[in-house]
Amino acid sequence: MNDKEYWDNKHIEHLPPKESGVTEFGQLAETYFVPQSRVLDLGAGAGMDSIYFAGKGHAVEATDLSDTALSRIREDLSPELADRVAIKNLDISKPFPYPDQSFDAVYASVSIHYFDDKTTEQVFSEIHRVIKPGGIAALMLNSKRDHEVAVGREIEKDYFEIPPDGIRKRYFDIDSTQVRAGKYFETLFLDDQGNRLRSTGGLEGGRD
Ligand SMILES: C[S@@+](CC[C@H](N)C(=O)[O-])C[C@H]1O[C@@H](n2cnc3c(N)ncnc32)[C@H](O)[C@@H]1O
Repeated sequence: MNDKEYWDNKHIEHLPPKESGVTEFGQLAETYFVPQSRVLDLGAGAGMDSIYFAGKGHAVEATDLSDTALSRIREDLSPELADRVAIKNLDISKPFPYPDQSFDAVYASVSIHYFDDKTTEQVFSEIHRVIKPGGIAALMLNSKRDHEVAVGREIEKDYFEIPPDGIRKRYFDIDSTQVRAGKYFETLFLDDQGNRLRSTGGLEGGRD
C-alpha cells in the first residue's frame, strides 16, 4: 500500500466527527498570524484548522495527500468562507508547487513527521522558501516522549517503524527541533507539551 492509499483508508476509517472544531494548537498558532495572512496548511486532514483560519479572515491553502480528507474539507466549508479556502492535493515530501515567499504563514499540525532525515530537511527548507521574510512557521511535531517510541523499530536516528501497520514516524525533542529548525527560523515559541495539545481535534481516537 502506498502512502496515499494508507491515508485515504485512514481518513475513511477515522474522520473526526463533523462537530470537531479548531484544535488547541490551531488557536494558539493563529494568534501569531498577522491580519489577513495567506496561510499554507500542510497535511490539513479534515480541515478544522484551515476553516477556523478562514473564519478569522485569513486566506488559506488547505492541502493534504489524501483526496478523502480534501473531500471532507469541501463538504464542511460554508459558502461564506469558500472563497477564502483553496483546497489542493499536495505531497509534503515533494518540492512545494509555490513560488518563493508566497505565504505569511505555514502551518503543519502533526503532519511533517513521516519522513526520513533527507526528506525532513527538504521539508523544512521548502517551508522556509515559501514563507515571506518575517513570516510564521507554526509546526506541531510528535514528541520523543510519545509512548509509541517504545514499541517502534528504529530505522534511522529518531525515525521509527510503528506496528501494527508499519507506518514510519519521526519523533522530536527540544534539542533536535532547535537544531533542525534553527537553520531556517528564529524561535518565537518552542515547547514540549506532551499530550496537552493533543486533546482536541485530529483523527478520531488519537493523532498520528
Ligand atoms: C495526524 S493527521 C493531522 C491532520 C490535521 N493536520 C490535524 O491536525 O488534525 C496527518 C495528516 O497528514 C497527511 N499526510 C500524511 N503524509 C502526507 C504527505 N506526504 N503529504 C501531505 N499530507 C500528508 C495525512 O493525510 C493526514 O491528514
